[in-house]
Amino acid sequence: METNPYIPYPVTIDRVVVENEARDIKTFRLIFHNAQDRKGFDFKVGQFAELSLLGFGESPIGIASSPLDRDYVEFTVKRYPAGVVTNELHNAELGRPMGIRGPMGNGYPIEKMKGKNIVIISGGFAVTTLRAAIRYLLHPDIRSSVKDITVIYGARTPGELCYKEEFTDWSKRKDVAVTLTVDNEAQGWRGRVGFVPTVVADVKPSPRDAICLICGPPVMLKYTIPELTKLGFKPEDTYLSFEMRMKCGIGKCGRCNIGPKYVCIDGPVFSLAEVADMPAEY
Ligand SMILES: Cc1cc2nc3c(=O)[nH]c(=O)nc-3n(C[C@H](O)[C@H](O)[C@H](O)COP(=O)(O)OP(=O)(O)OC[C@H]3O[C@@H](n4cnc5c(N)ncnc54)[C@H](O)[C@@H]3O)c2cc1C
Ligand code: FES
Repeated sequence: METNPYIPYPVTIDRVVVENEARDIKTFRLIFHNAQDRKGFDFKVGQFAELSLLGFGESPIGIASSPLDRDYVEFTVKRYPAGVVTNELHNAELGRPMGIRGPMGNGYPIEKMKGKNIVIISGGFAVTTLRAAIRYLLHPDIRSSVKDITVIYGARTPGELCYKEEFTDWSKRKDVAVTLTVDNEAQGWRGRVGFVPTVVADVKPSPRDAICLICGPPVMLKYTIPELTKLGFKPEDTYLSFEMRMKCGIGKCGRCNIGPKYVCIDGPVFSLAEVADMPAEY
């Protein structure tokens, strides 16, 4: 029987992790009331879902956990000062019931990534779905399906880096090359200092046989993409994820279009080659 895409699965908040010093970014682990629903919520890395709180509305949020984390799903959410849903979510206690609709969108090109070198570049808390991608690619059942993995991740300060413990663990592994950077020198910081585009130019990830996934604030993308182009990354092999105001998430309301594309169903992941064909304001 076909399920109604407007009806959310019931879930409960099972765990909350404060990700940053400013305490306005938290990761929420959600458990499905019905274990079968988790099976129905069969997602790919890079997809998103609509999270809802009764009486407050719903918001599209990227899925931050791996599809292979089979018992739960995680979302990392920033509290917007005037944001109705994100504020209520940040105030929510463990055990709070909520809803989840999805999965939605296309996700990262996992099939195309097989057998390739993978370069992942991120800045700030836009790292959420890329964290899902790294968790997935480093899973023992998946790791051998791709070749070298290079990760470059930056934040303004050490206190603003998300998923600190995981990144520390990944930095110690031999099967992934992780570079962490912060904008300015900070007490106790032993990683790189410098903006993401400068570090990309310095690390020089190889474009040979590579797929690049990149997510970050507009200013980071503006200066990093030319560095990738200089290094030789092809537009059709470089992917980024878009955020737009959305309503239905399933291509019905027309709220999220960029030219002829709906970000909710044609995206949110687009190659730079596709972006080049979009109207100039994007
Ligand atoms: C595909 C996709 C994935 C996303 N993934 C994440 C994620 O992983 N984590 C996360 O925290 N957020 C993510 N977002 C953004 C998130 O959906 C919005 O921040 C959220 O909907 C705000 O809801 P709200 O009810 O708190 O704010 P609202 O009450 O709807 O808005 C309050 C105010 O904040 C402004 N505002 C709201 N959202 C944004 C925005 N995105 N950019 C600028 N101003 C905004 C509004 O203009 C308004 O003035 C994603 C969005 C999309 C489309
Ligand atoms: S959000 Fe309704 S069409 Fe995309």
